Amino acid sequence: MIKVTYVAPDGTATTLEAEPGSSVMQTAVANDLDGIVGECGGAMMCATCHCYVDPAWQDRTGARSSDEEEMLEGAATEVTEASRLSCQIRLDPALDGLVVHLPEEQH
Ligand code: FES
Repeated sequence: MIKVTYVAPDGTATTLEAEPGSSVMQTAVANDLDGIVGECGGAMMCATCHCYVDPAWQDRTGARSSDEEEMLEGAATEVTEASRLSCQIRLDPALDGLVVHLPEEQH
């Protein structure tokens, strides 16, 4: 199992176990985690799965695609260099221990 930690804006950290091949968004939604909505189901059509990858993990999660970049323009909160659509981060054992930070809001 791969562990992913989601840190809420108030600092509350929730660690979830993810299936290999699932996304950071799917793992959050499957566990009813507040802070990730994932309205479009991962089709890169909504930006309600916005998250900020912890600086220690940014090299390993890779760069966002230009389509992802475009969709992030519609995100409800500030987009920074750490911003990703969490539906576009696929989990594999190399990402075990990943930490992402959740934005204040998704709508
Ligand atoms: S779930 Fe809609 S863009 Fe990620």
